[in-house]
Amino acid sequence: MSFIFNPLTNWFSKQFFHHRSMAGYFEPVIQIFKPSWRDGYYRANVQSVTYIANKTVSIELKVESRWPTHKAGQHIELTIEINGRLVTRVFTIASSPNQAMHEGVIRLVIKQHDVGAFTPFLSRLTVNSWVNISKPKGTFLLPQSNAVTFFAAGSGITPFIAMLHQALHDEIPPIHLVYYAKPNEHLLVAELASLRNRLANFTFTLLSRSTDGDVAAKLPEFIGSQWLVCGPQDFYKTIKNYADTHQQSIESEHFSLVDLHTQGDEKAHFQVDHGGIKFTADNQQPLLAQFQANKINVPYGCGMGICHQCQCVKKKGVVRDIRNGKLSDYGEELIQLCVSQVVSDVEFKA
Ligand code: FES
Repeated sequence: MSFIFNPLTNWFSKQFFHHRSMAGYFEPVIQIFKPSWRDGYYRANVQSVTYIANKTVSIELKVESRWPTHKAGQHIELTIEINGRLVTRVFTIASSPNQAMHEGVIRLVIKQHDVGAFTPFLSRLTVNSWVNISKPKGTFLLPQSNAVTFFAAGSGITPFIAMLHQALHDEIPPIHLVYYAKPNEHLLVAELASLRNRLANFTFTLLSRSTDGDVAAKLPEFIGSQWLVCGPQDFYKTIKNYADTHQQSIESEHFSLVDLHTQGDEKAHFQVDHGGIKFTADNQQPLLAQFQANKINVPYGCGMGICHQCQCVKKKGVVRDIRNGKLSDYGEELIQLCVSQVVSDVEFKA
């Protein structure tokens, strides 16, 4: 559809329909023929939703043919509609590029939380329903090296599973996986055992902190190999601190906590990124006024949260709704600039 929706029509759309693009304006019409079609997203069809462990779900998605195949270790943004709102979270793909190329299928393995704005709703996904995904992103890839050690914790196993499946088709260096989880909660153990049988260069160790001690004690054994780490922040920090003091090279994929500033009366400043244009905003004025002060033109109308013309896609970061003090989610969602204030660094789609 790109031949219909070009920069000229998008300009026309901004001027006359107060919409970011012409394709976005016609979205509801296109969705009659293509469910879940959304401007700027890829579509994916749910093939299966399977519980592989307590609170861990494996979701297979058939991706549309124009989706650019991922590299093992990369992640995507998964967007689903929850109670009429689009909500997005980032997940690493837990299957090989080879499978995506030949079958058009990717797999996500996701730990569900009891509360939250996204993962509890994954059980509502049904076979043959549609979701939206982004193109693959990230630089956490299997390096060229003489020897590699993977350090995984919990659901941090997913990029390594993708790399190991891809290794069935590629040359790989010797790899050892050190995998931490609570006792009996290691994920995809049968799959790891099968990969070990098929890959001459691959071995793994399953460990639990309560019975085997902290990962820090295991690290000296692996000095000299290239380290790849995927897991929660404290797991990553332990390994990173050790690596820094021993000049050990390390690559990592971890999700850091957002630094929120929720004391509204105390002035604070944050970075705003609007499609690459960056400026500093404070937590006292509405974002619309601060966009205008920085000469970033965005559509707007009433300036009081009624007309929705100032809607903008927030990709990352948290904002507060001035009307009720409610904080947004961290991930991607539509917000109204005229009634939002920043409470963390924030990134917007231009
Ligand atoms: S300008 Fe009308 S809702 Fe923001």
